[in-house]
Order: sequence, then structure tokens, then C-alpha cells
Amino acid sequence: MKRSINSLLMLALVAGVVASCNNSKSNKNGDQGALASNAAEKVYVAPGEHDEFYAFFSGGYSGNLTVYGLPSGRMFKEIPVFSQFPTNGYGYSEETKPMLNTSHGFVPWDDLHHPDISQTNGKLDGRWIFVNGNNTPRIARVDLETFETEEIIEVPNSAGNHSSSFITENTEYVVAGTRFSVPVPQEDIPINEYKGKFKGALSFISVEQETGRMDIKFQLMMPGFDYDLSHPGRGKSHGWFFFTTYNTEEANSLLEVNASQNDKDFIAAVNWKKIEEYVNNGGGTKMPANYAHNVYDHGTHNATTTMKKEVLTVDPTKVPGAVFFLPTPKSPHGCDVDPTGSYIIGNGKLSADLTIHSFDKMIDAIDNKKFDGEAYGIPILSFEDILAGTVKQAGLGPLHTEFDGKGNAYTTFFISSELVKWNIETREVIDRQPNYYSVGHVMIPGGNSAEPFGKYAVSMNKITKDRYLPTGPELEHSAQLFDITGDKMELLLDFPTHGEPHYAAGIPAEILAPKSKKIYKLEDNKHEYAALTSGDTRVERDGKEVHIYMSMIRSHFTPDNIEGIKVGDKVYFHITNHEQDFDVPHGFAMIGANNAELLIMPGQTKTLYWEPKQIGVWPFYCTDFCSALHQEMQGYIRVSPENSNIELTWSLGED
Ligand code: CUA
Repeated sequence: MKRSINSLLMLALVAGVVASCNNSKSNKNGDQGALASNAAEKVYVAPGEHDEFYAFFSGGYSGNLTVYGLPSGRMFKEIPVFSQFPTNGYGYSEETKPMLNTSHGFVPWDDLHHPDISQTNGKLDGRWIFVNGNNTPRIARVDLETFETEEIIEVPNSAGNHSSSFITENTEYVVAGTRFSVPVPQEDIPINEYKGKFKGALSFISVEQETGRMDIKFQLMMPGFDYDLSHPGRGKSHGWFFFTTYNTEEANSLLEVNASQNDKDFIAAVNWKKIEEYVNNGGGTKMPANYAHNVYDHGTHNATTTMKKEVLTVDPTKVPGAVFFLPTPKSPHGCDVDPTGSYIIGNGKLSADLTIHSFDKMIDAIDNKKFDGEAYGIPILSFEDILAGTVKQAGLGPLHTEFDGKGNAYTTFFISSELVKWNIETREVIDRQPNYYSVGHVMIPGGNSAEPFGKYAVSMNKITKDRYLPTGPELEHSAQLFDITGDKMELLLDFPTHGEPHYAAGIPAEILAPKSKKIYKLEDNKHEYAALTSGDTRVERDGKEVHIYMSMIRSHFTPDNIEGIKVGDKVYFHITNHEQDFDVPHGFAMIGANNAELLIMPGQTKTLYWEPKQIGVWPFYCTDFCSALHQEMQGYIRVSPENSNIELTWSLGED
């Protein structure tokens, strides 16, 4: 009896094996998509193993950047950029508050769009990632050793900094184009004087190659259209930059109708090398301006703000041969350049076809002065002269195109909610896959470079609906990962994304992981309020201002008892983490503080500001579970009345 049960079990097991073989066979032939076990294997990263790619997703209205692994879809980190971030105290600590200064004062939020990773010779080099603030125009640079925001520069004469922050092939420039045209300089005039009076600034921000420091080299003062997206030329078209425009009608009201009148809008082709030469020879006009340049220093662990008072502007009609308009149907959104730099793809969002301009034909038309009129003194090329071809009836509502480096392009269609793969040379559609739901951007690691890593494509979908368990009316957005190594794209995975991703940038993990910083060396800490040894810890009063030089190490603060603080004092806790091991941060939280906690990395100093408002004995504590004695990592501040004469004292280990 026992034996026969065993035999049955064996039979069942064998049958099971056969069935699963059949499964994987039929999957290879075909149509089971993400339901097949094959898809699960392709995204499975075993416990303790690492992902193949980093992916940096813009957080849109979260103001921040999130870091994911591909193919697993696991989120590793949120990097605060334009928004205050209570998780680590960014924008709350005294050191990082200056990062959010602007000409409008302290602006603790923005709408973060298009990340772009630095390049050398058109290839990803993994030094920095640039992102744009769309609302209060800013460009930020995030360092890819520390994964921290190091620099933010405000962009004057701009509004709705959307056609940003894309870089040239050696990271010579990061480019920022204004979406909304505005009076330049700003003035108090009737809105209906828009047409002809408003300007659209395209800013070329130079990047210092050793440090990454940004500086506005020049602003090109273009006609008052809306500048939507942009991409650099590369290879043969290196030296050019391309910007889509809409509202060439220059309407200032009910744009959904009034800015959709023209059959074609333009892609502006800008020869930035020519303009660079012009300004290097003294060209351009310096104009008064007021914009913030914020820089974080990893030596002093401090950010500083410099208000800049001047910007160099260039009138495009003063530099012959530098700027041309490429007619493009119809209200184009994405403006994408293929890896060879030969083709400029206009994704006309109200057009049924995709328009592909030829760079060679464009140069030929310019050389032969074959123009089809002009707009505000800028020559317009003839559509037929520069057209390489169209992808016919590819889908509805094209938005963005990425490339796999194998001759294929991948375009997202918002209205028909699909990702469409097509051949760049033949312009034939090869495959289409539905996206759930209403895809915006697509990202292939290195997709905006001369050498894409064409293994995965991630679509970033605007509408989530039923893809996950419901979480009330408000849902996170949803990304979908496709395997693009075969002829047909294969959907592998859904994963939620934070905020609203407008584009992402991916890079092989092997480029970034080996250089990722582990600790800040205490001996390199140049913070003016650092307590580098426990002997340096002290409390100093200067009128109402009290500076506490504090240290932290497992599992105590030095000092942990402070008396002589008074109601109405302005108290600064300057806290230095003395740990020198990877992944041993400590946190600091003070009761009643009107800001957030601080999370302090090994070797770092951060400062929390606190105004005691009530007398009593008030505790502070470590917020990060740092050791078995984490709960013991605490201290007290005695707060006396404003007129008290209790002496300022501090101690550790004394009762
Ligand atoms: Cu230090 Cu918990």
C-alpha cells in the first residue's frame, strides 16, 4: 500500500514536470506574456543578490528623485532635491536650508521632471545626474557617489522650466528651456499684449568638468512660443540642440483650442557651438537679473547661496546660421535624437503620424539657403526638404521616443495607451504592446545617449486604476517593465512609482556601485561647528543664541544633560556623528521642534534649530535603531524662565 502511494506521487510529480515543460514551451512560442513563469524568472533577484541596473525616476510633484533597481522594480532610496524631506532633515537642517533659496525666497517644493545622467563622448559616465524644477525654474545636480543633491541653480527669465534638463554629449552644457514665455525683463503689462512682446528663454548652463559646478553661459531669447522638450545632437549632430515648440499661434487664453490652430509648429534647431563662439568673442548683451545659485560642500557639510545679478542674453537674429525652425506636425511634445545623431523625431501629439527629420537634409537645406519664410527673423526650413520620412498611423497621441542601439525606436502613445517598436531606417512598425494605462514617458537605460543598453524598457503610466490593491482615491503611479531583447516586447513586471515620474534615467549598476561612498571621514570634516572629539563638545551662549557642540556614537550623546537654557532662546544643536562604519547613522529629534528630525551619516555634522517655548525638562533622542541600546540613546534639556539666572552647564555620566 505504501509503495503504491509513492508510485502515485512519483507519477504526479512526473506529470507536473511534463506540464511545466509544456508551459515554458508554449510561452516561448507565444502569448502567455507576464503570466508565464518565464517572466517571473527574468525579474527575480534572489535575496542578497543585486540588480543589473540603477533607474532614477523623476518624482514629479513630489519634488524628489527616486532610485530603483531593474529588473526587480525594488525602490532603494528617495533623494531629496527640491522638496523638504523629513526622513533625513534635508531642507530642515541649517546646513541644507540654503539649497532651497530662490529669488522668491525659500521655496521648499518643486515639480521635478527629466533626469539625465552625465556623459563623456556620448556614453554614460555616471558622474552626476541633472534634474529640473518645472515650477520655480531651477536645475539641480545630484552627485552619483553620495546620491545627494550638491547644487541647484535658479533659471531667470523663465517660467515652467520644462524642456530641461538635457545634456550635451560631453556634459559641456545642461540645457533649460522655458515652457511659458514671459515678459523679459518681467514687467507689469496687460496679459493680452503677449503676442510679440513675451519671450521664450533657452538657457545653456555650462558644467565645470572637475567639480560639476554650473553657471549660466548664455540665454537665447527666442520668440514667445511654448518650448516643450529638447534633446541634444550627438555624433554628426553634436554641437546642435533641438527644442519642440507649441503655441506658435502665441495665444494667451484657452490654449486647448487657440494653440491648436496651426497645422505645423516648429522644432527649433540651435547650433550652440556657433553661439558659444559668438559669446566667447564678446557677443551677447549682459542684462540685470536676480537668481540664486546654491552649492553644497561635502567638506564643510554646508550649503551656501549666492545671489547672481547678471545674465548674458543672445538675440538669435544677431548670430546668422545659428537658429532655424523645422516645421513639425502638430503641437509636438517629445523631441528625440537617435543614437547616431542622424534623425530628429518629432512626436506631434495631435498628429496620427510620427515625423522624422534628417539631420543631413537639414544641413543641406541650410547650406543651400532653401528657406520657406521666417518667423521673427529666424529662417524656416521647408518641411519636405528636411523630412526623412514618417511612421504612418503608428498610434494615437505620440509623446516620447527612446532607442535600443540596435536600430529600433520605441514610442509611447498616450491616447491609444501603447508602446510601439519601429525600425528607424524602414520606419515600419515591428511590435506594439498595450500599457496599463495611458503611458507618458518610456526609458531604456542609456536611451538618451550614443550607446543605449537595449535590454529593458520601462513605461511610466499616468493612470493606475486597478493595477494594485486599492488605497482609497489617491494611487501611486505605475511603471511597467518590458524585455526588449526579442522581436516582440515582453511585459515582465508592474511596479508602483512615487509622485509622478516624468522620464527616468537608467545606468548599469557596475558603473555606479563600485564608487558609491560609504562614510564621510571625520578627519575631513571642516564644519565650523563640528565637535570632532568628545573633548570638543561644549555649550556656548551669545546673548539669546545658544550653540550646542554635540557628538553622537553608539549609544550616547555628549553631552546628554544641559541646563541653563531659557524660554525664548535660539538654540542650535550642532551634532557630529563619530561613527566611521558603513550604515551606522544616528538620528536626532527634539520635542516641540518646528521642523523635522535629522539623520546624520558617519563623519557628518548637521544642525537643528530649536526655540524653547515652555519651561520644564525636555528630552531629545536618537530616531534610528542603531544598537541594542538605541532606546537608551537620549538626553534632557532643562528650560528655565526667560529671566532666570540658572547657570549654563552640561554633562555626561554625572548624576
Ligand atoms: Cu543612535 Cu539609535
